[in-house]
Amino acid sequence: MILASQALQKYILETNAYPREHEQLKELREATVQKYQYWSLMNVPADEGQLITMILKLMNAKRTIEIGVFTGYSLLTTALALPADGEIIAIDPDKEAYETGLPFIKKAGVDHKINFIHSDAFTVLNDLLENGKEEGAFDFAFVDANKEDYIKYHEIALKLVRIGGVIGYDNTLWFGAVALAEDDEMAEHPRAGRGHLGELNSFLANDPRIDCCLLSIGDGITLRRRLS
Ligand SMILES: C[S@@+](CC[C@H](N)C(=O)[O-])C[C@H]1O[C@@H](n2cnc3c(N)ncnc32)[C@H](O)[C@@H]1O
Repeated sequence: MILASQALQKYILETNAYPREHEQLKELREATVQKYQYWSLMNVPADEGQLITMILKLMNAKRTIEIGVFTGYSLLTTALALPADGEIIAIDPDKEAYETGLPFIKKAGVDHKINFIHSDAFTVLNDLLENGKEEGAFDFAFVDANKEDYIKYHEIALKLVRIGGVIGYDNTLWFGAVALAEDDEMAEHPRAGRGHLGELNSFLANDPRIDCCLLSIGDGITLRRRLS
């Protein structure tokens, strides 16, 4: 018998991810639930965070970029995984959410690695690429922001990460809605985003410039490795 995916997710979190979760990540997660209730689901879950940690450490990543911070679960995860002289450029127009997580980032002693930019991502990304100054300058990028622009982020991130660098896209399974048919029953929120994510998944699967792999963890993460 195959267990329902929700039961498996609960099992993985309780037996594997939560016992290893850093104390300040746990505190940040709980503070986010308290303040944002339902929308706390925007934090990546602990098992996905641990996958990101594993990738960053395997790559010896030092410089990363994060698009879409919210209260900073993936940001703190990244900051904890980078070496002491690592750097993360983190971009989000929502400063209040970032400041909700900031005390836990500070308590973890990794805030010196973070350059938070309170802005829409495109302004900052275009600035980083101006005159090619930061081209190929990042080891890893994590994209977890407005879904309708993921393909545009793809083109920019591909220039910003070095050859061999990795880009992670969050929510590529979009509550499972990408696998449903248009006339299947689904709530409004999953229905609204499924077209963008479905389009991105097809685009990435056929892009010869990258290695690509879609993992069914959390709400789905697609990893791309820049080839040339
Ligand atoms: C799913 S949340 C990010 C969650 C975060 N990665 C974590 O694990 O805690 C999405 C965030 O993207 C941000 N966002 C939306 N549009 C954006 C844009 N154009 N540029 C940068 N961030 C944006 C939102 O303000 C929101 O905080």
